[in-house]
Amino acid sequence: MATQSIEHTSLKTLVTQLSQQPIIFVGGKGGVGKTTTAAALASQLASQQKKTLIISTDPAHSLGDVLSTKLNNRKTAISPYLDAIELNPDVIVDAHFAQVERTITAYANPDMMPKIREHLRLSKSAPGAQEAAMLESMCQHLVSAAEEGYEHIIFDTAPTGHTLRLLVLPEMMGAWTDGLLAQQRRQAKLRSVATRLDKNDDKNNRLKDKDVANPFEKQKPDRWEQAVAVLERRKALFRQAAQLLHDHKKTAIVLVMTADILPLVETKRAIEQLESANLKPAAIVVNQLIHPEQQDTFWQQRANRQQQIMDDIATTFKRYPLSAIYLQQTDIRGFEALSELLR
Ligand SMILES: Nc1ncnc2c1ncn2[C@@H]1O[C@H](COP(=O)(O)OP(=O)(O)OP(=O)(O)O)[C@@H](O)[C@H]1O
Ligand SMILES: [Mg+2]
Repeated sequence: MATQSIEHTSLKTLVTQLSQQPIIFVGGKGGVGKTTTAAALASQLASQQKKTLIISTDPAHSLGDVLSTKLNNRKTAISPYLDAIELNPDVIVDAHFAQVERTITAYANPDMMPKIREHLRLSKSAPGAQEAAMLESMCQHLVSAAEEGYEHIIFDTAPTGHTLRLLVLPEMMGAWTDGLLAQQRRQAKLRSVATRLDKNDDKNNRLKDKDVANPFEKQKPDRWEQAVAVLERRKALFRQAAQLLHDHKKTAIVLVMTADILPLVETKRAIEQLESANLKPAAIVVNQLIHPEQQDTFWQQRANRQQQIMDDIATTFKRYPLSAIYLQQTDIRGFEALSELLR
């Protein structure tokens, strides 16, 4: 016999709840239905004539599959109110390092360029390089979406750990950039002191010489200033993105899970991680739920098991709105299948 169905709302109610949130992050464990949920939310908001941009940060092409369109790093119009992007980490890393090279070329000694190029080539495959480049690209979209007239920007993310790191990284990257800037300032100070010392051999006069101007300053402006400007711009971008992510009136985090033990444990852990970064989910979606009343014994037992876990889910996550998506007969492809999920 089926147990009592647990209180939860439909995806339609979630769309209403999120209708004032410009930024929506959809996260969760691998394969639970993040891309499907993100695409369903995006297509529903777009069908209400709200200009929406959906961005997948997942290297697999599942968003393109769900929307039945080939996507890439540039915007593809899916419908009059819906645009989609699939961020390809390789393309982003290449563009990112090409930009770094252009910046360095402007201020580095030309003789050093072959060495620098080799260093950059190796850096592309360094751990974290893709993540950092991806993060910068996400932050750029995040910050410019409103200016570009989007009412909603929805991020379909890769599995949980990754997503959470991306949410916390803007702050870390800000601190890291601060460190680099401080180092640059120290080096510049040392350089200008060294230049003055060179000009004055009299050790006893060194302190008195403090205010002598650097004779090279006019002819050769400090090259590092350009690098500092780039770092400052990046720092401002991360700071702006971190502010948006921490503003719960702007950003909503939706965690997707299935009614199984492992996703339950993982979602609990994800919430703890979010809380330690002063973030919290706006809602939890339980996907692939089986209707509690089944004809077949096998499916009835599966449904009963899910309902028991739903009891735990309702208790564990009682502070968060719970929405459910029922298991469909086939994989979800195209607008029609996506709109079925909102019934
Ligand atoms: N409610 C559902 N009913 C039937 N099939 C579903 C449902 N939700 C998702 N699926 C199917 O399950 C598969 C995984 O879903 P999806 O790609 O949305 O998961 P994901 O969390 O984005 O996965 P990944 O972690 O790999 O990015 C897809 O083939 C999708 O069509
Ligand atoms: Mg996905």
